[in-house]
Amino acid sequence: MTVRRLGTPLSDTGLRAMLLGAGELGKEVTIELQRLGAEVIAVDRYPNAPAMQVAHRSHIIPMTDAQVLNGVILAEAPHIIVPEIEAIATEVLADIEAAGLATVIPTARAVQLTMNREGIRRLAAETLNLPTSPYAFAGSEQELAEGAAAVGYPCFVKPVMSSSGKGQSYVERPDQIAEAWAYAQSGGRVDTARVIVEGRIDFDFEITLLTVRSVQDGQVVTTFCDPIGHRQEKGDYVESWQPQPMTDAALAESERIARAVTDNLGGLGVFGVELFIKGDQVWFSEVSPRPHDTGLVTLATQIQSEFALHARAILGLPTDVTRRAVGASAVIYGGMDAIGVAYEGVAEALSVPTADLRLFGKPEAFERRRMGVATATGDTTDQARERARDAAGRVRVVRA
Ligand SMILES: Nc1ncnc2c1ncn2[C@@H]1O[C@H](COP(=O)(O)OP(=O)(O)O)[C@@H](O)[C@H]1O
Ligand SMILES: [Mg+2]
Repeated sequence: MTVRRLGTPLSDTGLRAMLLGAGELGKEVTIELQRLGAEVIAVDRYPNAPAMQVAHRSHIIPMTDAQVLNGVILAEAPHIIVPEIEAIATEVLADIEAAGLATVIPTARAVQLTMNREGIRRLAAETLNLPTSPYAFAGSEQELAEGAAAVGYPCFVKPVMSSSGKGQSYVERPDQIAEAWAYAQSGGRVDTARVIVEGRIDFDFEITLLTVRSVQDGQVVTTFCDPIGHRQEKGDYVESWQPQPMTDAALAESERIARAVTDNLGGLGVFGVELFIKGDQVWFSEVSPRPHDTGLVTLATQIQSEFALHARAILGLPTDVTRRAVGASAVIYGGMDAIGVAYEGVAEALSVPTADLRLFGKPEAFERRRMGVATATGDTTDQARERARDAAGRVRVVRA
């Protein structure tokens, strides 16, 4: 674990961090890294991505193209590489790490394992023996039908390489298998036809347990933020709140699972461990080896947001997961397909008590694209949720 000295950005002494993926989460990480004096290079596939708007400089490349990605990394010679999305030619990261050219956050292996649902699911269920939904993998419609019959209905079908609910179906009956297969083929990130089929867990609620691996007094320690509850629509998060109340037994089990997974993945940084909870029972669902979208709520609730925690952790600095408020976040969608939209109702949104906004500045809106988020605090999570939803609802995305 090399902890590098912070220097002066844009000089020979600068500590260079390269973000692969320059979305709204990367934008907040960039700001936190810069607050500590790091030099940040943002990379994404399209111009003017959110993190590019605050980074020292940026590159626009197809990050799934190994040769191009390798070229940019060699040219910039970053000390730290911080993947923000999953659609990356991860074999390049493995080579860069093996050659000792840069530190990959949290590790190249963790990035590789978690970008594919098969890798992380087999690790959690088969190597670490953690509780998960019943599952099967399938490479054809026929195998999917067999897999679904084995895990039982209702079930979820997901491309092994996908995120944010893309290509994902909820399947209640065998006659819906063909459609789910076809939809998964259209929604997958890369041209692998493979899917996972998971039996549905009838949970009371689901959480993200933000788990931080950071160096304190020369040792890597694991700490947990208070659980974040969230609500998903079509596999995409629409609101989150913190803390999510749960039994002591469920919290202890959640932390046990999160620790087992993150110990195995290793490295430094924030992990978003997704768990399903029913009473005292907990199932592992998936993990992001980076800040999590539902964790945007920590901008309002914690002394150090998940982005500040990530920045500190990956620089080898101490972290503090203390929560200072009860809060919530609510997503602001594009609601239309348009380039260069405008935002109305911002003053009205910010006049909701405790409300705050992040407008990400994305150059193009889509109907279901996340364009911003509202946060709020409250005496209870119900009050905070109501305020955050109210504030988000007051922002109108309009054609410019
Ligand atoms: N096996 C399951 N049982 C119950 N709900 C599920 C299951 N799998 C997925 N879901 C629901 O769909 C959401 C998205 O699934 P997830 O596997 O996290 O996909 P993504 O990688 O796109 O976030 C989950 O947060 C949960 O609400
Ligand atoms: Mg998820």
